[in-house]
Amino acid sequence: MNSQSEERKVRLGLLLSNIRLEEKLLIQEAQRRPDVELTLVDSREIVLDLQNERSLDVLLDRDISQSRAMHALQLFQNSGVKTINSYEAVRVGGDKLLTSKALHDAGIHTPRVRVAFTPESALSAIEEMGYPVVLKPVDGSWGRLMAKIENRIAAEAILEHKSHLSSYFHSVFYLQEWIQKPGRDIRAFVIEGETICAAYRVSDHWLTNAARGGRAMECAVTPELHQLCVRAARAVSGECLAIDLMETSNGFTVHEVNCAMEFKESLKAVKADIPARIIDYCIKAARAAQHQKEYQHV
Ligand SMILES: Nc1ncnc2c1ncn2[C@@H]1O[C@H](COP(=O)(O)OP(=O)(O)O)[C@@H](O)[C@H]1O
Ligand SMILES: [Mg+2]
Repeated sequence: MNSQSEERKVRLGLLLSNIRLEEKLLIQEAQRRPDVELTLVDSREIVLDLQNERSLDVLLDRDISQSRAMHALQLFQNSGVKTINSYEAVRVGGDKLLTSKALHDAGIHTPRVRVAFTPESALSAIEEMGYPVVLKPVDGSWGRLMAKIENRIAAEAILEHKSHLSSYFHSVFYLQEWIQKPGRDIRAFVIEGETICAAYRVSDHWLTNAARGGRAMECAVTPELHQLCVRAARAVSGECLAIDLMETSNGFTVHEVNCAMEFKESLKAVKADIPARIIDYCIKAARAAQHQKEYQHV
């Protein structure tokens, strides 16, 4: 080793709150690496100010709280810490409407979307789109509070219920065209411009995501799937994320990108060691950040 930075350990922070199996695997993986000094940054405990010198090279976001992650990432990023993913990627990826817009603008096939802000305008939008439609919270995950609306009577009932719920997010009506998919969707993992693996999520329910019981089966990463996922990751400026896609008679359609993605179900089906690949990338990014800082100080 000839440069100081190569001898120095990589100072890796994990931004988290609840520790799921994914975080346990990432922690174990980081602890196995002799060149990593790991710090757990619990977003429920930290207090940040506006101008901190941060003693980290890289901060990997694994926080289940989108709002805490976004704010923390912005402050760390502005203090010169490389964050994975970036504030911008988490902001866009954590909001289904912004994601749809970014995918659409990048020319990526994604389900047709309408957004409305009152029950009345949402009903007009649904009628205009035609049944069935899918109504989703813009900031939701795990398939929560999503509704497949099959007719006007159901639309009226759901919109009325929503209008009586207090959260601001229930007044953003994000509507998506129904995709007739073959009893499964696909979760593909992209790290630094490579689609490292993918898994089908198979279910009898229309919600096929793992959190709702979808079972993982390996899915081959064809050149088409690889390129599409890399383009989708790039569209949201993501470096390390999961792309959710559905198969249609007209090829793949990308419906979601997930930044602090879950992968425990996919791990049962894929060959890639997802946590190891994530930590590899963090180390690589940290080395690059160290070199850049040294270069700036020459
Ligand atoms: N437009 C759609 N048409 C048919 N099924 C859908 C549609 N959108 C989502 N789904 C199903 O619902 C699941 C969850 O949707 P998604 O948008 O990924 O939300 P979440 O953030 O909860 O994962 C998907 O995995 C898929 O099985
Ligand atoms: Mg999803």
